[in-house]
Amino acid sequence: MNEYEKKERERPKPTLVTSAVIAHDGKYLLVRDDKFNFWRPPGGRVEWGETLEDTLRREMKEELGTEIQIIRTIGFGEDFAYHQTLDHKTHRVIFYFLCRAKNPILGYGDEGAGNARMKWVSRDEFLKETDMEPAFKDMMRRFDIRNILRMHENTERAEKFMTKHPLSSRVKESYFYHVRGVRKFAVLLCKFYNADIEIIEIASILHDIGADAGSKEHAEKSAEMAVPVLEKMDISEDKKERILSCIRHHSLYTPAENLEEQIIQDADSLSFFDGFWKLYLEERMIKKKRNKKEAISDTKEKLRVMEDKVRTDEGRRILAELINKTQNDLEEYAKGKL
Ligand SMILES: [Fe+2]
Repeated sequence: MNEYEKKERERPKPTLVTSAVIAHDGKYLLVRDDKFNFWRPPGGRVEWGETLEDTLRREMKEELGTEIQIIRTIGFGEDFAYHQTLDHKTHRVIFYFLCRAKNPILGYGDEGAGNARMKWVSRDEFLKETDMEPAFKDMMRRFDIRNILRMHENTERAEKFMTKHPLSSRVKESYFYHVRGVRKFAVLLCKFYNADIEIIEIASILHDIGADAGSKEHAEKSAEMAVPVLEKMDISEDKKERILSCIRHHSLYTPAENLEEQIIQDADSLSFFDGFWKLYLEERMIKKKRNKKEAISDTKEKLRVMEDKVRTDEGRRILAELINKTQNDLEEYAKGKL
């Protein structure tokens, strides 16, 4: 080791940390142990060679005994906190992620079996906790976490409603696959056109909840069923109206009147070209008692109509990427090769 390397080794450095803001049913997890004298979202130091997300997954397994799903990045903050175990002040840069726990959390420390303290608090209590780690407070000054959590709670409410109300006219897996696909493309288009993500996500999750009413009436029915779901959300009246309007105008019979509505229309169509066509085809056989040949011809017709429904430039570009493969796959399927 040369002189420079030696000096580098000895030079104190800031610590990189990742933290998980774990959301569950409108509550958020805070922990407290002997390392620091404040409440904080659970987290830990990034080790050499790990990505921020790797660290988070490892730490949550070690500390809480759970796998997590990382929903989105919230932001970062820094502090010079006194670390009681190390007995010195550390300069910490903390990256915060919004997460969901995949397993029940029983405790904090030693894979959930430890005796450090933990508590689940509401969004307000979480954000107003005075005895909170300084880096988190710093992050709150830099990023709009209140709005991020509010939007997450609303989206989750919509998701919960959708998954708990499967349709009698649809095969459950096929319906959920379609909604996931619509959401995926809607979010892509939303980012491209800088539309309102909350409106787009909630509208795509709820757009087909009234599908049992049949193809002509279902858009109106979905909107009607969405009203009480939206009523329970912390969301402005203007946004509620715009979400309902997206739902009402998502089908073939109700042309889109603005960009948000067109995004939902485009995404609804694009989902067919992203694998959903096959589930649609099989659903025709199961639910409508069509034979294979008829179901294939129904699906071809449906794809033609759906192709026409895509109107934004970016939507057309995505469609162009998908369409050949879809048509080939459908031919192969017809020949019994897929
Ligand atoms: Fe749909």
